[in-house]
Amino acid sequence: MVGDEHIAMIPATPNRIWKAEVNGQEYEVLAPSNSILLDVLRDKVGTLGVKRGCDMGTCGCCAVMIDGVPRLSCLTMASEAEGRSVTTVEGLSDGAHLAPIQQCFTEHGGSQCGFCTPGFLITSQALLNNNSNPTDSEVACAIEGNLCRCTGYQQIIESIQAAAAIHRGEVESNPPVSDAHPDPHPSGPDGPVSPSGQES
Ligand code: FES
Ligand code: FES
Repeated sequence: MVGDEHIAMIPATPNRIWKAEVNGQEYEVLAPSNSILLDVLRDKVGTLGVKRGCDMGTCGCCAVMIDGVPRLSCLTMASEAEGRSVTTVEGLSDGAHLAPIQQCFTEHGGSQCGFCTPGFLITSQALLNNNSNPTDSEVACAIEGNLCRCTGYQQIIESIQAAAAIHRGEVESNPPVSDAHPDPHPSGPDGPVSPSGQES
């Protein structure tokens, strides 16, 4: 039988409304007051491009921009981003058309896996927003907090320099090859179809 003696549980953290602009759109979501920005972005806002790699500030996968400044969302309290402008990798493109940094990562082999690439793109864009003519060592310095466990960084640096040339107006950004294809299943996949002559 359970007696009166028990250890009091720590009370749950109260929820509160978190408000910020994410990728140009205003969001108001309910989240625990001690939330980490990474959790709010992934679990409440739905920007799944923000990746949880190490969850301890060593990989750069979770990088976002807050008012244009790159930050590790796994080490940032959501409250620090309240009322501010947050940019995730989803916010770099112009609708269906890639930003120059995304286009150049694709063309120059800078795109690696889906975990490290979003962080590289955010950090690179933040660099180019402030310096469209970086040296290779400035590029290397900017991305030193973004780790890829699999390959080298040369193609990533080349991709960033190619995007820098577009930002400087020396090279034209490629026009989109075609308009984005419409979603063939806008309301989800069709149900299974039985072969003709058979009851489903
Ligand atoms: S998940 Fe934030 S630095 Fe690795
Ligand atoms: S960690 Fe992404 S390709 Fe290496």
